[in-house]
Order: sequence, then C-alpha cells, then structure tokens
Amino acid sequence: MNHLKKFPENFLWGAASAANQCEGAWNVHGKGVSISDVMTSGTHKSPRRITPVMDEHAYFYPSHEAVDFYHHYKEDIALCAEMGFNIFRMSVNWTRIFPNGNEAEPNEEGLKFYDSVFSELKKYNIEPLVTIYHNENPFQLTKECNGWKDRRCIDYYMNLCRVLFNRYKDVVKYWIPFNEINCLTTKLGNWNHAGILNEGTEFFTEQADDPSSRFAALHHQFVASAQAVRLGRSINPDFRFGTMICHITVYPLTCSPDDIFLTQQEDLMRNCFSGDVQVKGGYPYYIKRYFERNHIAFEITEQDLTDISEGTVDFYSFSYYMSNCITAQKDAAQVSGNVMGGAKNPYLKATEWDWQIDPKGLRYTLNHVYDRYHIPVMITENGLGARDVLENGRVHDSYRIDYLRRHIEQMRLAIDDGVDLIGYTPWSAMDLVSVSTGEIDKRYGFIYVDRDNRGNGTMKRYRKDSFYWYKQVIESNGENLSFH
Ligand code: BG6
Repeated sequence: MNHLKKFPENFLWGAASAANQCEGAWNVHGKGVSISDVMTSGTHKSPRRITPVMDEHAYFYPSHEAVDFYHHYKEDIALCAEMGFNIFRMSVNWTRIFPNGNEAEPNEEGLKFYDSVFSELKKYNIEPLVTIYHNENPFQLTKECNGWKDRRCIDYYMNLCRVLFNRYKDVVKYWIPFNEINCLTTKLGNWNHAGILNEGTEFFTEQADDPSSRFAALHHQFVASAQAVRLGRSINPDFRFGTMICHITVYPLTCSPDDIFLTQQEDLMRNCFSGDVQVKGGYPYYIKRYFERNHIAFEITEQDLTDISEGTVDFYSFSYYMSNCITAQKDAAQVSGNVMGGAKNPYLKATEWDWQIDPKGLRYTLNHVYDRYHIPVMITENGLGARDVLENGRVHDSYRIDYLRRHIEQMRLAIDDGVDLIGYTPWSAMDLVSVSTGEIDKRYGFIYVDRDNRGNGTMKRYRKDSFYWYKQVIESNGENLSFH
C-alpha cells in the first residue's frame, strides 16, 4: 500500500449515529412523538409493526430508551474523542425541537440538549456533521397530512432549519438535509422517510403504496433540501451541504444484455436519480419517462424547479453496506439489504442478516459517483451488523475489524484512483437500534452498550477490540490497518 497516495492530511475520521436510534428519552423535556417511536421491535424473520396507537403492554418500542445517548452523551463523546475522531455524524430529533412539527416556536428544552451535545463535541475539537432529518418525522404530521405527501411539510421543515441554522451558525459547518433521500424511490421509504402511512399498512416491510404520493413526497423533500441550502448559505456562506444516498451498488448477474440493461435502469432509478437532482439541480430525462410510463403524477411548480436548480449541494455523501446483483431470470436466489434486496452474487459472502459483503464494490462506487458528479465525496455510513459477545468486559470483534479494514483499503485505492474522498463516518459510533429489524443485538458500534433486544441491561459502555483498532487507524491517518 506504501506506493499509493495517502489519505489527505485533513481527512475527516469519525463515526455516525442517528437520534431516533440512540437517544432514547423519547418523552422527556417536551419532546413529541416521532414516527420511530410508534415502531415496535422485530427480527430478521418477524417484521416491525407500525402502531398508530401504541400498546406498551403488547409490544416493545426500542426507540423509547434506545441506548440512552440522551443521558450518556458526555461519556460517549469522550470515548469518540479517545478514538481520535475529528467528526461525529448525528441527527437532531425534530420532535425535541418542534414536538408536533407544526408549532410556531421551538421547544427551548430540546434545543438546550443539542447546545450541550455540540459544546461537548467542541471541547474535543470534533466537528459535528448534522443530519437534519433521519427518520424523526413528527407523528403528528402523519395524522395531520399523511406526512411529506403534503406540501405543508416543506414549510414545517424550513421552520426547523431556520432555528437550527441561526442557533448553530458558528457551531456546525456540515449539514445533511435528508438521510438516504433516495429510499423514497422504494415503497419501504413511505414510512421512515416521509411519515406516510397508507391504509392497509401494518408492517414496516410490507407497506401499502401509492407511487404518486410517494414521489410527490420525494419531490417535496428535494424542494425542502434546496430551500435549506439557500437559507443556510444566506446565514453562513461557509456552511457545507451534502446529499446522502443509500447506495445499493448493483451488478448484472450475468453478461446477458437483458441483465445489463436492467442493472443500468435500476442504478439510475435507485442510486443516481436523487443525487442527479440534488447535485445537478434538475430532474433527469430518464425519470420523466419513468413517471409517464408508470402514470405517476404530482404537482411541480416553476418555483419548485427554480429552488431545486439554485439549492444544489456541495458534497456527495452516501451509505455503503453491500452490493447486489440484478437479473432478468425469475428463479435466481435472493439476498436482502437495507431497502432493497437483489440476486445473490456467487462471489460474495453475506452476513447473518443476508447483506452481501463487498469491499471492492466500495472502490467501484467511489469511482462511479465521483466520475458522475466531480464534487467532494464522503462515506457517511458503512459497517457490519453482527452479534457481539461481551466477556469479562471485552468484545473480540475481529470480524468487524476485518470488514472495516477491507473497506478502508479500498478507500485508499479509490483515493489513489483520483477520487476526492474527504471523510469517513462508519456506522456506528456506539451500538444502537437497527432500523430494519428494531434489534439492538444487530450491533455496529465501536462502543458496546450493555442493552439487549428486550430492553434489559445496564447501559454500561465497553470498548470493543474494534475501538482500539480504529484508534490506531485514525492515529496513523489510515496507514496502519494491521490487527494482531
Ligand atoms: C442505513 C440507515 O440505511 O442503514 C441507518 O441510514 C441504519 O439508520 C443503517 O441503521 C443500518 O441498517 P439497519 O437496518 O441494520 O439498522
């Protein structure tokens, strides 16, 4: 590796989190109910339930206490500082600040929590990378207008942005308006990504879908993101905004032209479309045709298009966990993924949750997105969900180290290819609640949290082997990836 270009001196090393998956304290200090709060736990085999009327006797709601970052943030941030982080990705929980989403004035107590988190980060010179929306839509907005299918959500969201940008204009530089915005190209996106609950939806994995309202919601988020970028820049021209794409890298299963064409179409729809809008500032040709062919219609005003063209982002960020194959064959063996499964790749191994591990796919993806957009790139999620065992205060997670090491090697190769990669925030800093299954035992963290799927445990934090290893990686600016 020595002959390769090095990681840049100011490379951003850290890890990621999301408020609804780590904070807990779901109903304190004026916080309202978010869409995550009404989701039950599940497993790989039994889907999470969406319960508009919560029943805490019948179900377990993992976000309610999560891993209690709300009361452990000082300890967690100190541990991140010990690893040497210079960036920490987090989201703000909308419902702490506007409990129902539609209030005129923010909840001061909710803001005070984020004041404290930011000042704690500052103490260690850790740059916050703030996701404004990461599955924390106020549940009230589902009741009021079925979430983002309604244009009113743009204004509600802008109220949140106005408060955040003014209050934290000298504290936060990096902003991500929406986490994995492209998930709204799939029906799974309805709930988490837009707070849309269609009649007939009971389970997270089997949602009733109306493509026109789903794509309207996505359109509203494009407009909101663009308006946020413009507003933010008017408040502080040094702010930097990023798109955040759930990148499900796709390969043709075979070299049959059918598989190749299908793969290209899938890549355009799932991976490229949202980035194209947010980076290039307009709707691409292929999506217009897709809408026509599928009878998808919603309102797009002239002003929307102006907003979108004027509010393009500064960097491209994405999550990368796996790759999948695409094929026209009907009987190909399948694997799953965070929003989209695909055909099984015979060259790759998968995790217990059936997500295929493909480090080289990260180099491929980095080249793919940099070639398409030519703006700085950040990997804002990447990691291994696995069952860890805590024994005598230690967690020997060599499998996670192996996963991360092989991905970081490919990052270095991509830098050598010429990609302008500026940061890496793997998922996740500490263990937290899994989105797809609601489990905590599907662990991703460098920091182990003593908490299980049913809410048992002391919440005590432990350093995993990967914690010490990542510290060494950061100390050596990505040079020393060895593990003994
Ligand atoms: C990403 C989300 O899609 O995948 C995270 O942005 C999520 O919020 C992560 O936790 C891992 O997925 P899961 O389902 O294992 O939690």
